[in-house]
Amino acid sequence: MNKSDSERIATFLERINLKPTKKMSEANLILVNMCSVRQSAVDRVHGLAPKLKKLKTKDSKLKTVLTGCVLKKDRGKLAKEFDSVLDIKDLSRWPKLFRTMRARQKTKKYFEIPPKYQTRFSAFVPIMTGCNNFCTYCVVPYTRGREVSRPAREIIQEMKNLIRKDYKEIWLLGQNVNSYKDRKINFPKLLKMINDIKGNFWIRFTSPHPKDFSDELIRVMAKCQKVTPYLNLPAQSGDDEILKKMNRPYTIKHYQNLIKKIRTAFRKYRKGLEKDISISTDIIVGFPGETKKQFESTVKLLKKIKYDMAYIAKYSPRTDTAAAKLKDDVSPQEKEGRYKILTEILKETALENNKKYLKKEAAVLIDTFKNNFYFGKTRSYKTVKISMLNSKRQILNTSLTGQFIKIKIIAISSWGLKGEFVK
Ligand code: 5AD
Ligand code: SF4
Repeated sequence: MNKSDSERIATFLERINLKPTKKMSEANLILVNMCSVRQSAVDRVHGLAPKLKKLKTKDSKLKTVLTGCVLKKDRGKLAKEFDSVLDIKDLSRWPKLFRTMRARQKTKKYFEIPPKYQTRFSAFVPIMTGCNNFCTYCVVPYTRGREVSRPAREIIQEMKNLIRKDYKEIWLLGQNVNSYKDRKINFPKLLKMINDIKGNFWIRFTSPHPKDFSDELIRVMAKCQKVTPYLNLPAQSGDDEILKKMNRPYTIKHYQNLIKKIRTAFRKYRKGLEKDISISTDIIVGFPGETKKQFESTVKLLKKIKYDMAYIAKYSPRTDTAAAKLKDDVSPQEKEGRYKILTEILKETALENNKKYLKKEAAVLIDTFKNNFYFGKTRSYKTVKISMLNSKRQILNTSLTGQFIKIKIIAISSWGLKGEFVK
């Protein structure tokens, strides 16, 4: 979501005739788009302050602006470190705030500001913002406000434009993507409408909430072949009591049943490797009061689901949230220990899951070229490292970034695959 915001901010800055610089020291405007989900991210922004101060003493005209998710309690201190703090929700009003920079842009609503996409082959398309869920640990409902869905007509228009420009991968974004609703169009219907657009492209989405994951969505996901076989379904904990304390209104039984239904639907409706959907999750370790036994339930969940990836976070109290009133009583060492235990399990399950790719062919969207290797992602969101040599040991030196390439997997590890080009 932050990346998508940055793409819209980039358009705005371009419209007021600003150009990006390679080095921070060459800029006359430094804009930081921050995230407050974890304290470490907030600390990083504070950490920038001395550097900004130094640059400002060198160049008195330098302006520094902070935006993104800024918490009320951090605002005061950050306001001292930056010339201005602007609300991302007000992006459409920024021209007025930037009048010193001769902004002449007409006021538009946030979603109407066309983003400046980061690459020419992969794009983020926000379909809704905000969140109504108030998980007790999370700041998002406070920083982003309530859920607002974007009109389907507008989303389809943006999708069609992207596909006309030959975009290959489109991420539909939302804090709670599957609670999308534009009159009669819910998330599965929107997915189907996008899948029906002619063209050769992949659809990905993030992040869904288990409580809103309907059977209709499972069926549509499995049947729509442009929707890639990858899903991030945050569990947050494997323990029902902790889930309750987190205000996550589902049980682990419900969650496991969802995964089972999703896997079954893919086996039923897809062919080849696609029969297996790759699944990742988000987990928080060390939520206030999480006992060793409750943590063991999360261990069990990871062993049972056999995830391909897990984004494991150590609980960090965020002001304004309900959990901030609870004692953060799991020690940093204990959190670290729990983090390591889960990472070890993940390493094993991911390796086990990756075995099925060995010696098989797969389509890869190449996204990077570095040190004589190409890197890309499979449809199942596995990172693949590919040597520039083809099977006849000829060097391929054409630019393949942004293209779908067929490769053969020649080696695997927990965190990725190695491949070679096939002719
Ligand atoms: N502490 C640790 N992790 C958090 N997340 C959100 N809030 C917190 C917090 N206070 C994690 C959740 C969420 C992901 C984006 O960040 O796992 O899914
Ligand atoms: Fe935060 Fe929960 Fe909303 Fe996700 S669903 S953004 S974790 S409050």
